[in-house]
Amino acid sequence: MIDATHADFLVVANRLPVDLEPDPEGGPGTWHRSPGGLVTALEPILRHANGAWVGWPGTPDVDLDPFIEDGLKLHPVGLTETEVAEYYEGFSNTSLWPLYHDAVVTPTFDRRWWRTYVQVNEKFAQAAARAAAPGATVWVHDYQLQLVPRMLREARPDLTIGFFLHIPFPPPELFLQLPWRSEIVQGLLGADLVGFHLPGGAENFRFLTRRLFSASRVGSLGAVDTGERLVRVGAYPISIDSAHIDEQSRSASTQLRAKQIRVELGDPDIVLLGVDRLDYTKGIDIRLDALRELLEEGTLDPAKAVMVQLATPSRERLTAYAQLRDDVERQVGNINGEFGRLGRPVVHYLHRPVDRDELIAMYACADAMLVTPLRDGMNLVAKEYVACHGDGSGALVLSEFAGAASELRRAHLVNPHDLDAVKRAIVAAVTEEPAVAARRMRSMHNQVMKHDVDRWARTFLDDLRAG
Ligand code: ADP
Ligand code: F6P
Repeated sequence: MIDATHADFLVVANRLPVDLEPDPEGGPGTWHRSPGGLVTALEPILRHANGAWVGWPGTPDVDLDPFIEDGLKLHPVGLTETEVAEYYEGFSNTSLWPLYHDAVVTPTFDRRWWRTYVQVNEKFAQAAARAAAPGATVWVHDYQLQLVPRMLREARPDLTIGFFLHIPFPPPELFLQLPWRSEIVQGLLGADLVGFHLPGGAENFRFLTRRLFSASRVGSLGAVDTGERLVRVGAYPISIDSAHIDEQSRSASTQLRAKQIRVELGDPDIVLLGVDRLDYTKGIDIRLDALRELLEEGTLDPAKAVMVQLATPSRERLTAYAQLRDDVERQVGNINGEFGRLGRPVVHYLHRPVDRDELIAMYACADAMLVTPLRDGMNLVAKEYVACHGDGSGALVLSEFAGAASELRRAHLVNPHDLDAVKRAIVAAVTEEPAVAARRMRSMHNQVMKHDVDRWARTFLDDLRAG
């Protein structure tokens, strides 16, 4: 058990960095790394800062005291089965997630889900209020907890509160569909600093504060004046632990494993790679459609090209996700049925997370990385791949609608709605003259090495504390 009351620096996020997998025999269960980019980015930050993390342990109806796991101080927030269904699966992932991702799936608004979202945000705010030392800095994360900044300020006015949104903040005309739009904006305005990945998200938010509350913009940093307080608003593009990944990718063991993977794949000329949570925003279906057409036309030879698609299971009880899984698995089956040979499928599809060492070896092995989301806040996978190719090898096909596209300008940028353009980008990625391809990759590698996750966190926290 740890002292639950005295963290000077607190991260508050929907999930803890580890998920509890219950033991069907009634034992204590096992902890696994949680999915998604938020954990990838924040875990190294918390390790350096020696702070504590408040979050849900990923399983309903578990009641745990604060504890230390792998050196991290964790404060679990227990959620009931109903809260998981209505706050997490309902409001967070069936209302907000699609709405904030350009409504690529139609969002559903449900008053009961909203009430549970309020109630669970209150639970997180109280847990944070209990765990924070006097005058502590509390950093609240993501769309699941947008009401926490205001609730926490009311409970603990002594705290410095930052908020960062890990997904896109939508254009006002979409956000204004939300029946509880004012409450969400008010919730965020409880923070001292509200951060987004891109300047466009910050600008959308400022516009809404003017439209909904007549708040005025002040100062060159684009703070908003609520009449009671100044709330700073800015863009902070998130990143990865670049030096660590770069070093790991160059290690002899990774290089050896990368070669073995190639042999296991049948020693093809071309290895294409996709790595995603199995989410309908990621455009996995789009890259499979592009691959199929390239095989059908004979542009890619199934005896010489393979694709590896890693898909971490995600939000599996939601209809849109179950439907996506069916669709993707049907596409994979069709391609392999038509173009595979005995012992030689064209698409190698793994519906599970792989461990970090294996993932880095796969990045190092791949000749082209396909990142084709319809909309994505940042997309850390694109940056991880680039970090693994400091030697100038490899190529990145990247959707214009991923936040990462604003930094990785030398990628093969593509509109994922334009299938011919996706096909052209894949062909360009695997046929470009090596010296030209290496210049692209080295320039992106420099960018990712300079703008790492530590710089992201330091910039945000320095701005937060400077207020
Ligand atoms: P999101 O946060 O929407 O899931 P990101 O691309 O920003 O998307 O982050 C995903 C993170 O999860 C990355 O750090 C990536 O390495 C990791 N990841 C995604 N799929 C897998 C997988 N199949 N196995 C292991 N890690 C994965
Ligand atoms: O980065 C976006 C995000 O929704 C994070 O908030 C979350 O941790 C991650 O993706 C994975 O999603 P989930 O927690 O719903 O499995």
